[in-house]
Amino acid sequence: MEKLRVGIIGVGWPGQRHIEAYQKRPDVEISALADVNTEAARKVQSDYSVEGARIFGDYEQMLEGDFVDAVSICTPNFLHAPMAIRALGCGKHVLLEKPLANTLAEGLRIAQEVAESDRVFMMAFNNRYRRDARILKEQIERGELGEIYHAKTGWLRAANDFFLRGWFTQKEKSGGGPLIDLGVHVLDLALWFMGNPRPVSVSGVAYHKFTDVMRQKEPAADVEDMASAFVRLDNGGTVVLETSWISHLERPYELYTQLFGTRGGATINRSVGQEALSIYTVEDGEIRVSRPQLVPSDVTERGFLLYDSFASEISDFVDSIRAGVQPGATITHGLDVLRILDAIYRSAESGHEVVLTEGTDVGGTTPPGGRVRA
Ligand SMILES: NC(=O)c1ccc[n+]([C@@H]2O[C@H](COP(=O)([O-])OP(=O)(O)OC[C@H]3O[C@@H](n4cnc5c(N)ncnc54)[C@H](O)[C@@H]3O)[C@@H](O)[C@H]2O)c1
Repeated sequence: MEKLRVGIIGVGWPGQRHIEAYQKRPDVEISALADVNTEAARKVQSDYSVEGARIFGDYEQMLEGDFVDAVSICTPNFLHAPMAIRALGCGKHVLLEKPLANTLAEGLRIAQEVAESDRVFMMAFNNRYRRDARILKEQIERGELGEIYHAKTGWLRAANDFFLRGWFTQKEKSGGGPLIDLGVHVLDLALWFMGNPRPVSVSGVAYHKFTDVMRQKEPAADVEDMASAFVRLDNGGTVVLETSWISHLERPYELYTQLFGTRGGATINRSVGQEALSIYTVEDGEIRVSRPQLVPSDVTERGFLLYDSFASEISDFVDSIRAGVQPGATITHGLDVLRILDAIYRSAESGHEVVLTEGTDVGGTTPPGGRVRA
């Protein structure tokens, strides 16, 4: 079997996670690294022993030549749309880091390109690929929790300087603060567990209570520090979301998804010092709680669940290319999450609920045919 040639665009933390994960696949060769910071790319080339990879300071040169079959785009949010569109246009398969884009209009332009392309396009929603999420999804698909009609999900950070850096804090470059950075992950997770019903209305708030704190580190910071929302879905289901970069919490961070089903419930809890999946059903009038083992007993690696999620995500991408099928995390899913995020910001600004009608999104139009290929 010929090796799949992969290029990584952006060699920061997520780019390095993608490299490690591709390296677990013997049928993949990392043939190029593209980063404006070629020194960083060279260091990564050496740190991860990918000596065979060509280094490009200009990602377009990499895409225009015959160097790669597929790319992982791991660059700042404002570069997602131009890079994904260019890569698809050059006939490359695309794995795109979250969020889909920093504006809905750009997300819709990517969707149009995907609809016109015969290449594989996948959203890098790695949280779906964690073992807790995969185990829970299997149980839901077997019908063990019945219909999931409500989800409560959140990712909250108390405060951590590291995350308040550069473009992340500037709306023009990031699309927003914790909502688009962290909220995107847990919102996708909740919708995925619920079977990806389409959003119909959104009521949201975005707080700017700690702008002075952010500006001590990043003087140009203008994004929210916390947001929360209530989302109605077309199957009658609902999602409650909360997310923050800075807030007064008992622990440094809390990450959770709680599902309410007609036959059972479940909670994924990933707060500090705790990584647990609890599934509860009622049997003979008694509440039965199961807590599946998430880390195999022979694994000692720290952060296994996180690293394993990237390995599993990348495998899905590669397998989908090999099989010629679209992977699980589709453009439609990325776009629906972005629609909700966009509506939360609009609702926060207007103080009113935003109704989402297919084809009438503010900020762009839906691609030809009304829907993008799932
Ligand atoms: N899935 C996850 O768990 C996860 C975690 C962190 C970040 N992310 C996402 O990954 C993306 C990158 O985040 P980051 O923290 O690595 O950002 P970053 O600012 O560290 O940038 C990543 C790399 O992109 C390079 N870059 C910038 N402009 C470029 C250009 N024009 N051409 C080529 N390379 C360029 C930078 O030099 C850097 O090496 C973001 O979209 C973020 O949301 C995902």
